[in-house]
Amino acid sequence: MSKQKLIAGNWKMNGSLAANEALLAALRAGLAGTQPICAIAVAVPAPYLAQAQALVSGTPIGLAAQDVSQHDGGAYTGEVSAAMLRDFGARYVLVGHSERRQYHGESDATVAAKAQKALAAGITPIVCVGETLAEREAGQTMDVVRRQLAAVIQANGHCISEIVVAYEPVWAIGTGRTATPEQAQEVHAVLRAQLAAATSAAARVPLLYGGSMNAANAAELLAQGDIDGGLVGGASLKAQDFLQIIAAAGS
Ligand code: 13P
Repeated sequence: MSKQKLIAGNWKMNGSLAANEALLAALRAGLAGTQPICAIAVAVPAPYLAQAQALVSGTPIGLAAQDVSQHDGGAYTGEVSAAMLRDFGARYVLVGHSERRQYHGESDATVAAKAQKALAAGITPIVCVGETLAEREAGQTMDVVRRQLAAVIQANGHCISEIVVAYEPVWAIGTGRTATPEQAQEVHAVLRAQLAAATSAAARVPLLYGGSMNAANAAELLAQGDIDGGLVGGASLKAQDFLQIIAAAGS
């Protein structure tokens, strides 16, 4: 039997108390009475962690945060520490999402430090890597993702088998332009090989694909040998779409 896939929704900066309640109620209803066929998570904005924690309690939906500080605590206004995320039951945290690398200047070293803080707090970091369109067109895709992952491997040593990696080509995020299953698999195979050089447990590190994944294209992406799940943006905000992607992960 193939290993269980992970479907994680990234809500980004969307939601409200009312909208979150409706979305999570619809997901709960859609999952009720079924055996979870894959691992499921939702990455919610930090202020809603407490609300979401209560609403996913007793369901197969795991709670994720969208970012974590590279510091433990102290004078870092606006930052949220791994210990704080753990207080609210976060099981996963995204680190190094391209929107944070691009708009908040996060370097490979910062991303690696964030992954380290998450692991130390017992939270699974979902490490995002991916090339821009210019980098792809310049033939630099593999160099870019290898460099991004190398920083995390170097900083995390023997814990590296405890991470999740998400390959998100920047040109596919929110654009409706998905990587083909072959393009995604090609990169995933490179990431798997890189992990295998660092740990004997590389086969069990989930490698997610993200970038315009939706109900229509999920199945063929998830059928690829090294695609172990999805990191879903826009489609995770629509309960029926997200449920269909979850269903595709089990088929
Ligand atoms: P979209 O699914 O909206 O393209 O977003 C992907 C993403 O960035 C998930 O982290």
